[in-house]
Amino acid sequence: MVKDIDHIIKTRRAIYPNMYTGKKLSKNLIEKVIENSNYAPTHKLTQPWFFKVYSNDSKKELSDEMVNLYKKGNTNIKNSKIQKIKQKCEKSDFIICICMKRSSNEIIPEWEEIASTAMAVQNIWLSCASLDIGCYWSSPSYINDISKFLKLESDQRCLGFFYMGHYKHSNIKPPKRINIKEKIEWFN
Ligand SMILES: Cc1cc2nc3c(=O)[nH]c(=O)nc-3n(C[C@H](O)[C@H](O)[C@H](O)COP(=O)(O)O)c2cc1C
Repeated sequence: MVKDIDHIIKTRRAIYPNMYTGKKLSKNLIEKVIENSNYAPTHKLTQPWFFKVYSNDSKKELSDEMVNLYKKGNTNIKNSKIQKIKQKCEKSDFIICICMKRSSNEIIPEWEEIASTAMAVQNIWLSCASLDIGCYWSSPSYINDISKFLKLESDQRCLGFFYMGHYKHSNIKPPKRINIKEKIEWFN
C-alpha cells in the first residue's frame, strides 16, 4: 500500500534493534530501499554515497570488529556496552555501513558530500518507514577507525551504521518537535 508522503515523513522514526519483531526481511526488499538512495541530489552529480551491507554470518564479523574498536578506544570498558553492541547486531536483519567517497573534484567541499550522503540515507529511512522496516543511523566514535576492516580507500569514509529489522509502523506517533513557526523568518 502506498502511503501519503506527509504521513511517511511525519511518522518516520528511529527504531532501535530491541524493537524489531524478528520477522525476516528479504535481500530484494533491502535492495529496493537502497536503490532509492541513488536519487538523492548531489552537487556536480558526484554521488558520493556507497554502502557495505552485512547480514547473516557477516554481521558477527562486523560486531566482533565493533567490540574490538570499542575496547581499543576506551580505558573504561563496560561489559554492558559490549553486550549492547552484540545484541544490536544480532537483533538486526541487515546492517548497512554508510560510506562516502570524496570526489576528486576539489571544488566540492566535503560538507556537501556528507550532506548528499545524509540525503541518500534519508531516502532509505523514509522508504523503510513506508515498508514496515525499522531502522536507525548509529554514529559511534569508532566509525573513524573502521576503514581498514571495511577496506576503504584514503578518500573514503564510514559515516555510520544503519541497523535494520522488521517493525510494524502502525502505532507510531510523530515525535515532539520545536514548532516550525519558530524556525522560519518570512520576507515579503
Ligand atoms: C547523522 C545521525 C547520527 C545518529 N547517530 C545516532 C547514534 O549514534 N545513536 C543513537 O541512538 N541515535 C543516533 N541517531 C538517531 C537519532 O538519535 C534520532 O534520529 C533522533 O533521536 C530523532 O528521533 P527520530 O528519528 O525518531 O525522529 C542519529 C541520527 C542521525 C541523523
